[in-house]
Amino acid sequence: MADQDVTELTKNDAPIKARGLEGVIALESELSFIDGQKGELIYRGYDINDLADGASFEEVVYLLANGSLPTQDELEGLKQELQSERALPAPVLDILRNSPDDAHPMAVLRTAVSALGLYDDEADVMEEMANRRKAVRILAQIPTIIASFDRLRKGKEPIAPLDHGSMAHNFLYMLNGEKPGKAAERTFDVCLVLHADHGLNASTFTSRVIGSTLSDMYSAVAGAIGALKGKLHGGANREVMRMLLDIDDQGADPAEYVKQRLAEGERVMGFGHRVYKTMDPRAAILRDMVKDLSEEAGEMKWYEYSMAILETMRNEKSIDPNVDFFSASTYYQLGLDPDLFTPIFALSRSAGWTSHLLEQWADNRLIRPRAQYVGERDKTFVPLEDR
Ligand code: ACO
Repeated sequence: MADQDVTELTKNDAPIKARGLEGVIALESELSFIDGQKGELIYRGYDINDLADGASFEEVVYLLANGSLPTQDELEGLKQELQSERALPAPVLDILRNSPDDAHPMAVLRTAVSALGLYDDEADVMEEMANRRKAVRILAQIPTIIASFDRLRKGKEPIAPLDHGSMAHNFLYMLNGEKPGKAAERTFDVCLVLHADHGLNASTFTSRVIGSTLSDMYSAVAGAIGALKGKLHGGANREVMRMLLDIDDQGADPAEYVKQRLAEGERVMGFGHRVYKTMDPRAAILRDMVKDLSEEAGEMKWYEYSMAILETMRNEKSIDPNVDFFSASTYYQLGLDPDLFTPIFALSRSAGWTSHLLEQWADNRLIRPRAQYVGERDKTFVPLEDR
């Protein structure tokens, strides 16, 4: 949608009905723009392809939070802040220790982020600088939560975060116990860049709704994690990998497998989007990355299954893939467990959520739409004893 197509929708009291808020502009934002017709995504004016090629995740974090790319000194300052906030408060680590091994990692992450707020003296301080400090803490601590829980559920001790290195490097180190190779670190870093922000998607909207009540950043990010968990949103990447693994286990033909799903009226995860009417540009970048990774690893099957599914979806439904489709095989080729895919999405998107919250609070207005009442009216109340 071009900016000139936007009209002020409510000039009087007449409510506007848009199921799922489709096409509704709820607020103004300078953070990211999606052109759903052309398949373009920009963060603060920069094309996602350029950022994926040239920027680190930390540069994108700075860009989203501050509106401009950092100088060397500014980037170094942010990195040091992030590095110094990586360790978890001991009681939050205890929560992870006491979580069931088979708990959904997104449920654990949601709980732990909520708990972080209990141990931050600034949790309810709403001054801008305090909120900026909390944004850094949340960004720095989410990777530690994910990696620590993953190790604990596998019967291993959590690994203390490094006091140096990038977020991508430190996360892969805390997860695997060994320093990642340069290629794996860069691939993972690009994935973080690609997932950092995406307009007013469901989880970002959730965070802004919570923020708009002047609730605190931990509440808003915990709520956003809850929204991202769903399989129509961030949870789709895990479902995509389930499908690829199922195809492999069954020795099925991917095209026939997908046709059968569609014939049964099921959705194919990783396809379709509320805004894109063409290929999601992030999916195109990830497709090329997973092809390279597969060639390097000499294991092409996940890429080949994915391409066969893509062709089938285009032929059968004219629907293109979204970011979740190729991120699944990318993460799998990096050796990550499928149920960590969505938490990793949260790790990156926390950059977007926290920047959106700063933007929300800079010019707050309560977000409060209406529902069309379709229930009954004029019923006669009957006292309890007479019912
Ligand atoms: N598989 C099969 N059919 C689909 C799919 C899909 N993945 N996505 C949309 N369609 C079809 C619908 O059945 C519908 O067809 P119909 O008009 O014949 O009934 C039509 O396309 C429009 O779909 P809606 O559900 O109205 O589109 P909406 O904008 O509400 O949904 C959504 C968008 C939820 C992403 C949807 O495409 C979907 O369910 N995709 C699968 C889940 C997924 O991959 N989610 C991740 C999205 S990206 C992200 O959040 C990070």
